[in-house]
Amino acid sequence: MDVIGSHVKLTKKGNSYFGLCPFHNEKSPSFSVSRDKQMYYCFGCGAGGNVFTFVMEYENYSFVEAVKYLADRAGIQLPEAEQSAQQKAARDRRQQLLHINKTAATYYVYQLKGERGAYARKYFQDRQLTEKTLIHFGLGYANPYGDDLYRYLKKMKFSDDLIKASGLVRFDEKKGARDRFWNRAMFPIMDVNNKVIGFGGRVLGDGLPKYVNSPETELFDKSRNLYGLNFARTSRKKNIILCEGYMDVISMHQAGFTNAVASLGTALTSQHCALLKRYTDEAVLAYDSDGAGVKAAMRAIPLLRAAGIRTKVLHMDPCKDPDEFIKRFGTQAFQERIDQAQNSFMFEISVLERDYDLNEPDEKTRFFREAAKKLLIFDQELERRNYIEALSRQYGIPFEELNRLVNRYGLSLPEKEEAPARQAGEKPQGPDGKEGVLAAQRLILTWLCREPSIYPAVRAHLSPDDFEDPLYREICRMAYEQLERDKKVDPARIMDAFEDKEKQKLTAAAFHAPVPEKDAAAGKKALRETIIRVRRNHLDEMSRRVKDLNELQQIIKMKSELQHLNISL
Ligand code: UTP
Ligand code: MN
Repeated sequence: MDVIGSHVKLTKKGNSYFGLCPFHNEKSPSFSVSRDKQMYYCFGCGAGGNVFTFVMEYENYSFVEAVKYLADRAGIQLPEAEQSAQQKAARDRRQQLLHINKTAATYYVYQLKGERGAYARKYFQDRQLTEKTLIHFGLGYANPYGDDLYRYLKKMKFSDDLIKASGLVRFDEKKGARDRFWNRAMFPIMDVNNKVIGFGGRVLGDGLPKYVNSPETELFDKSRNLYGLNFARTSRKKNIILCEGYMDVISMHQAGFTNAVASLGTALTSQHCALLKRYTDEAVLAYDSDGAGVKAAMRAIPLLRAAGIRTKVLHMDPCKDPDEFIKRFGTQAFQERIDQAQNSFMFEISVLERDYDLNEPDEKTRFFREAAKKLLIFDQELERRNYIEALSRQYGIPFEELNRLVNRYGLSLPEKEEAPARQAGEKPQGPDGKEGVLAAQRLILTWLCREPSIYPAVRAHLSPDDFEDPLYREICRMAYEQLERDKKVDPARIMDAFEDKEKQKLTAAAFHAPVPEKDAAAGKKALRETIIRVRRNHLDEMSRRVKDLNELQQIIKMKSELQHLNISL
């Protein structure tokens, strides 16, 4: 109760306390906390649990971290015995690194305030940052003396080893210890728990490189942290604005857009998306208006989509970035651009269109084909139809024609390029051809994700081993685990399990099969057929691998049983 009360403003109503739910955006309180039950529940979004779940969800902690956090709060010393010596050492190390970062951040702030900081103060002022903003973001200054921070850290009794691991100082054989940042405006980078994990330093003026960032360290993983998310996650806006730079985030927050975040000098990753998904279902891309910005948006959109985040693209013209836009046109104009942001699919198509001269019949046809293929990413028929309609309106393609194209591609493998012209005598790819069976496996996975309620029925007839494709088998295994545990599939987390870019892409595809619209009877029939297809393929493959007659007979028996397969939804 006290724990939750310190994060959410609660008022008493009957036996319970109510407040605004921190896990979704709402205007009237539907988040209730009950002292007796030691539980919370949100009538709006269904979030619920006990104090541990709350801390885990809110602070983004693992269970162990949550226990530790709560024990710290209550001033209880947890028995350390449960941790292995190795775990303990790792934790201590982490604490030490956090400590050194915090010390450095304080030092930079101190430098900014001091005599030597005058020029940097003027720089921030010229960029129209208020005093309040400087404090809020902990902005600071690294002075021009090449080892000033190093000497300060030594004075504070940090070891060379730790200083080196923090990335704040470089050790050069000839020159000795040199501060990584000197004569730069300093931006501490915080994780979602407001802990400083790294720094960005900007040159005060036009020099190069413009920004220097901390290297990746034991603490600082650029692909898993977003600048500004520590504030944005509690902004209670309905979406999160993604932009490219530190200054964009800061000026947006200063203008009241406290839901802005940026990836730090790296492209958005699927881990970023998974992180975002914990806080929002909708992203607005406010990338720079130049070619690099468009490219970054084109890369980000599929990743966001795969993580289940709806995305819109904000148009910044005639400005380069949000910082400039807000300064020139003001907050209200920026809000209007947010409201007018373009649907990300329509944005992708408009970028695709630039490669084709639509006055050329051939190119026009190729453009339509590409567009039709792209439409396959929508697994719900209704959604797909709406996009087909939007495209046909925008580009003057008759609806039926585009629809037919889409359906044709829908039957073959989406990730395959142009279907090759069939050689004479070659067998046509029917539903039980290799492609058809892969499509069926994807269909099951997408279906499970969309309607977890079919899980028991699917589980009764299909085990992960029935998925002949090794990647899909792996995905299925993880999906089943999630369904058992959470009663739903979280594709972003599954994707996260794969390091390999290609596998991530295939995983995304596996969750974007065109599942037929649900009409109970037809849906059930289609599901039954799909299950049979996957299962039959597995049995076929098994029979190819059999070692004795006995086994073969069993397979034949199982195969004949398939005909009578009955699913109960
Ligand atoms: P930009 O060049 O768009 O910078 O780079 P910006 O944020 O608009 O900065 P100002 O307004 O000129 O101060 C966008 C982001 O790319 C990373 C930084 O994270 C920066 O915020 N970047 C850029 C680097 O890491 N190093 C660089 O040399 C340049
Ligand atoms: Mn800028």
